[in-house]
Amino acid sequence: MVAPQPARAGAWWGVVRWPMSFRISIASTPEARAACVALRIEVFVDEQRIPRELELDGHEEVATHFLAVDEPSGAPAGTARLVATDGRGKIGRVAVVKARRRAGVGAALVRAAMEEARRADLGDAWLSAQVSAIAFYERLGFAREGAEYLEDGILHARMRARL
Ligand SMILES: CC(C)(COP(=O)(O)OP(=O)(O)OC[C@H]1O[C@@H](n2cnc3c(N)ncnc32)[C@H](O)[C@@H]1OP(=O)(O)O)[C@@H](O)C(=O)NCCC(=O)NCCS
Repeated sequence: MVAPQPARAGAWWGVVRWPMSFRISIASTPEARAACVALRIEVFVDEQRIPRELELDGHEEVATHFLAVDEPSGAPAGTARLVATDGRGKIGRVAVVKARRRAGVGAALVRAAMEEARRADLGDAWLSAQVSAIAFYERLGFAREGAEYLEDGILHARMRARL
């Protein structure tokens, strides 16, 4: 299990990339966790039509959740989560609000999750990528493994990166 340690609760990554600046932190307060869930509902349930009961699953309590917020407004811009299973880090639920896409938020969230997985001594990171996002993950060092499959009605492929 990778739970935010007290010393890590304040961990954050700041990114300045024109035209926006944002800050990523581990969501360790009820408010930050609620913002992560709200973002996922907006992107996966409302936009991609994934049923809410599938989107929120049994890993929520044990996962480390990451929240990206715009600087200086503090408006939530994106989220991702990391779950440790069998000594490996599973990264998932990577979501960026529509108006903030293609500005580096998604890549920074995945990098933050990979860094946390490395800190937790996990050997590698894996994820179940929507086929439309494969090129995005390849840019971050993930390589595709095996055939495509349907998950929640969307074509996915498994991908892995050494940490
Ligand atoms: C996929 C997603 C998380 C990417 O987030 P983002 O903030 O737009 O991505 P970034 O701006 O950090 O992109 C990083 C790089 O990947 C590229 N990229 C982003 N999305 C891409 C895509 N779908 N296909 C190919 N390349 C992509 C960017 O152009 C950028 O390239 P650069 O470094 O050369 O400029 C975002 O589009 C999203 O939330 N989509 C809806 C939810 C979703 O599908 N999540 C993935 C589930 S597996």
